Amino acid sequence: MKALVTGGGGFLGGVIVRMLRERGDQVRSFSRGEHPALEDIGVEQFRGDLTDRDAVTSAADGCDTVFHVAAKAGIWGSYRDFHSANVTGTGNVITACRANGVATLIHTSSPSVVFDGRDVEGGDESLPYPSIYKAHYSKTKALAEQMVLAAASPELAVAALRPHLIWGPGDNHLVPRIVAKGRAGSLRRIGTRANLVDTVYVDNAARAHLQAADRLTADRAISGKAYFISNGQPLPLWEMVNRILAAAGVPPVTRSISPKLALAAGCLCEGLWGVLRLAGEPPLTRFVAHELSSVHWFNIEAARRDFGYQPEISIDEGMIRLRKWFITGTS
Ligand SMILES: NC(=O)c1ccc[n+]([C@@H]2O[C@H](COP(=O)([O-])OP(=O)(O)OC[C@H]3O[C@@H](n4cnc5c(N)ncnc54)[C@H](OP(=O)(O)O)[C@@H]3O)[C@@H](O)[C@H]2O)c1
Repeated sequence: MKALVTGGGGFLGGVIVRMLRERGDQVRSFSRGEHPALEDIGVEQFRGDLTDRDAVTSAADGCDTVFHVAAKAGIWGSYRDFHSANVTGTGNVITACRANGVATLIHTSSPSVVFDGRDVEGGDESLPYPSIYKAHYSKTKALAEQMVLAAASPELAVAALRPHLIWGPGDNHLVPRIVAKGRAGSLRRIGTRANLVDTVYVDNAARAHLQAADRLTADRAISGKAYFISNGQPLPLWEMVNRILAAAGVPPVTRSISPKLALAAGCLCEGLWGVLRLAGEPPLTRFVAHELSSVHWFNIEAARRDFGYQPEISIDEGMIRLRKWFITGTS
């Protein structure tokens, strides 16, 4: 395989490129910054912004497979910024695939594309896109996913993977936020119920990308679909949070606030950060308050059936690796 990985220097993209290199594939990464660790493992780097169509098209030249992993993630920012990176950027990736005769496009989507704030228990890919989104991230990821699925053609086979709450060594989003708040003593449980949530260890999410690409390359009949990806081990959310804190050597979160109060606090923070243009992300938003107080776990049978996805690293094993990373800085 000659693969382009957009965002190959990021958390998930970094593991995808490592796995591709380990099996001998030629790999390119496309991102704005320079990621020196990629040079060490023989990954060619193309620097540019997803919004620059020519730059993305040059990066895909000569590739047979594209993993479109790069995106603007996070809970805060203008709709315009989310739209440029996630929607315009994905449009440019599709154009680049068509211009270069790329055969397979694997797009990293997100389960948040179907999240409307209500509980989801074992939901599968028949869940509809909501009419209203609670965050720019989820709305723009949903628009991007729909563009990718609509781009399926006899020449270009596509799949969108929806990994749920990726964690593991190297995480630069979920784990550091939890640990920083835990250390500062500012973390609160939202509500007291044991709301089940599933998550995915980063290597499992990355492996799913390779499996989907291999399957699509061999059999284009499954092209044009989205798949939930998780560890298939839903746990009470606050148990999972406490396990991450324990891996970092931080005491568990014990204090709680009600979901109503959390929602009001999220609303207040959004207002303050919006009106006063405060720097950084607000500590809470309505979207996060909903996410932290709801049940949301998904059925991964379609990924098992269509490309043999199997979460190889259990949560227990992942926690051992995470602990090692906190202690030694290596996984
Ligand atoms: N982490 C999760 O829990 C989670 C869950 C579900 C889905 N996802 C999806 O998984 C994907 C990867 O997420 P991640 O957690 O690995 O994020 P990440 O570490 O922030 O990686 C994203 C990478 O994309 C690149 N990038 C961002 N904007 C770009 C732009 N405008 N042009 C070119 N490159 C750009 C960044 O590199 P530069 O800064 O160098 O440009 C970055 O290395 C995303 O599509 C995200 O939506 C993540």
